[in-house]
Amino acid sequence: MARLAYPGPNAVAAAAEALRNGDLVGLPTETVYGLAADATNPQAVAKVFAAKRRPRFNPLIAHVADLAMAEAIAVFDEPAQALAAAFWPGPLTLVLPRRSGSDRAVCDLACAGLDTVAVRLPSHPTARQVIAALGRPVAAPSANVSGRPSPTRANHVCEELGDATALVIDGGPCAVGLESTVIAPPREGFAGALLRLGGLDRERLEAVCGPLVRPDVDPKAPRSPGQTLRHYAPRAVLRLNAEHARQGEAFLGFGRTCRFAHLNLSTKGDVVEAAGNLFAYLRALDSAGFPGIAVARIPADGLGEAIQDRLSRAASAHDPIAHP
Ligand code: TXA
Ligand code: MG
Repeated sequence: MARLAYPGPNAVAAAAEALRNGDLVGLPTETVYGLAADATNPQAVAKVFAAKRRPRFNPLIAHVADLAMAEAIAVFDEPAQALAAAFWPGPLTLVLPRRSGSDRAVCDLACAGLDTVAVRLPSHPTARQVIAALGRPVAAPSANVSGRPSPTRANHVCEELGDATALVIDGGPCAVGLESTVIAPPREGFAGALLRLGGLDRERLEAVCGPLVRPDVDPKAPRSPGQTLRHYAPRAVLRLNAEHARQGEAFLGFGRTCRFAHLNLSTKGDVVEAAGNLFAYLRALDSAGFPGIAVARIPADGLGEAIQDRLSRAASAHDPIAHP
């Protein structure tokens, strides 16, 4: 079972040492907790896939401590530089051409054999301190078993992946609560692609890099494997845009009018607050044993678009037509 540590120099040194030894660490970031491994070490990365029971074709994000480390593992052209300057550190992942040949190069397994690499500079100070202390990029998918909601509290990581980790750092609840937005920046006359909605909203990105297209998902050959439908699923059956609970359902509310909710994502009706609570509340209602969860309508503005995306994936996980 993992040791639990609180942010500080001792925890940072212990985490870097565990990563250097090829072990896994539960690492807080501003989006969700990550299951961290040394991204240059294929044996360590293999442990991540095994612990998450994650299909091998799904590549991992390489987390860096600064721009110099990012440029050592990926090629930044002008649009990528502009995006990094505007939004890093923060909840944005850039899919870029991969650079190999250095001792900091991300291993093939972490990139699932692609010639691109997903790079992110997190804003959480502990995450950055650990990566800087290791001196190498850190591969960190969300620290949940594949298909389960992402962890936004240290205890979620301990409960689900405690046995797989040498250490879990408890950085408190994640400030953003949704995974990073994943984009492939525009290149050579082609529009950029919005590969995964997430903690940075589309409007802010498009103001810097122009319109982003959402590539259609071919379930047999997903361009970004995180787009496959069965994802982020609690055990309970989800019913969306509900006005109230039916028999056997818990009600997950949003806004002031939802007075009879078991839990309310944001009584103020604030989508940013709702994003921060989403995964923790789904988990809480799930573990309370409700067979169904009715979820109030969430507006589509700002982070609401990403919340709707996560909810519809979670709801469709139980749909026999979407998943024969
Ligand atoms: O907020 C986050 O991004 C969290 C925290 C821990 O940083 N990490 C996270 O990682 O959500 P993960 O592995 O669960 O999601 C990575 C996403 C997946 O949808 C994957 O398919 C996509 O990024 N991805 C990774 N490399 C890619 C690549 N080369 N091309 C296209 N998509 C890629
Ligand atoms: Mg994930």
